[in-house]
Parts: sequence; C-alpha cells; structure tokens
Amino acid sequence: LFAGPVTFVKGVVAMSGLPPADRLEVCFAGRSNVGKSSLINALTGRKTLARASNTPGRTQEINYFALGETRYMTDLPGYGYAEAPVAVVKKWQELLKSYLAGRQTLRRAFVLIDARHGIKAVDEDILNLLDRSAVTFQTVLTKVDKINRAERDAVIAQVKGALTKHPAAYPEIVVTSSEKGEGLETLRAIIATLE
Ligand code: GTP
Ligand code: MG
Repeated sequence: LFAGPVTFVKGVVAMSGLPPADRLEVCFAGRSNVGKSSLINALTGRKTLARASNTPGRTQEINYFALGETRYMTDLPGYGYAEAPVAVVKKWQELLKSYLAGRQTLRRAFVLIDARHGIKAVDEDILNLLDRSAVTFQTVLTKVDKINRAERDAVIAQVKGALTKHPAAYPEIVVTSSEKGEGLETLRAIIATLE
C-alpha cells in the first residue's frame, strides 16, 4: 500500500520527544469518535495498528507511524471530548500548538469531519490554529457510508463554504468510508505524492 512497511514508532507527549525531523510528515486530526483510528487502519491495511497505540491513558500522545522510510504519519488525540479534565485539555492544546507551529517537516494536516455532521464550532478552533500555524490542511469526510447522496451533496457544500474562510485550506475534499473502502486509494495517493 505504501512504499515499505508501516510501523508504530512511538507516542510523544512533549516536543522534546519528537523523532528527528528527517522526513516528510502528515498528521490526522479530528473530533473524538470521528473515525481517525479506523481510517489509519484502513489506509494501512493493518486492522489493529492505530488501536494498539490508542490505549486509555495514552490518549494525549501524538502517535507516530512510519510509512516505509520516507514518511511519518501522526495520529493526534481526538478533541471535543466533553469528559476530559480541564488540565489535560490545556496541556494537550499547548503541545498541539507547539507541534503545528514548530514541526518543520509537517507538510499537510488531514482534518477529519464526520459526514453526518459537517464542520462544527469545535472543528473551527483547529482550522483557525492551522491557519495561524500556516499548515496546509485538507478536510476528509468520514463515515460517508452512513448517509445518502443528497446528504452527501449537502455536507460537501457546507464544508466548501466553511473552507473559503480559511487561507490554509487545500480546496479538494476527500470523501471516505473506512467501512466500505471509499476514498482510501485517493488518500493514499495524496500522501504518497506529497513532496
Ligand atoms: P478517538 O480515538 O476516540 O478520538 O476516536 P477515533 O476518531 O479514532 O474513532 P474510531 O476510529 O475509534 O471510530 C469511532 C466509531 O466510528 C467506531 O465505532 C467505528 O467503528 C466507527 N467508524 C469509523 N469509521 C467508520 C466508517 O467509515 N463507517 C462506519 N459506518 N463507521 C465507522
Ligand atoms: Mg482513535
């Protein structure tokens, strides 16, 4: 699927723990439950890859995966989880800010949006942060198998409208279903061809 094996590298809790910035990197961000782990597993063809590193208590980590020798893919903790303690959220936001602003090799952020809900206020916060950090982001609609054609057209229109306010937005929206496999090849090709 990618050039070389996909492996879990480490979970990072502070900027000092980042692996050497020696290759291109993409990150996956999105609300809790949006389908990040499922998408990473589906993309890599490894059913338990993301879940294996997503044990309770490690949820505030940036999880690093190596795609062969030439790329890193990172899984950022889900945001918008109402039950998370304030102190935990604060610490995570600080790490996220430092990571997005300071990771020189981060080439693109994929922001996952549940196709049933579209872009919400909680998503706007991270889109604004990506604008300020000048990190190009691309929206990925998830769970599209759960909606019909008319709903799909409506959510794409909503997201397109929201993106016009964001200078860091890459205009193409990727529509995916980890369940049905839709959009996975498109997303793999995007990751593989980034330079
Ligand atoms: P956190 O780790 O809590 O931030 O969640 P996450 O974003 O990693 O979501 P996860 O992949 O764990 O998926 C959440 C739920 O959505 C699970 O029950 C998945 O089975 C379901 N799900 C994920 N992707 C899809 C999809 O493409 N289609 C359908 N029907 N369900 C999906
Ligand atoms: Mg997850």
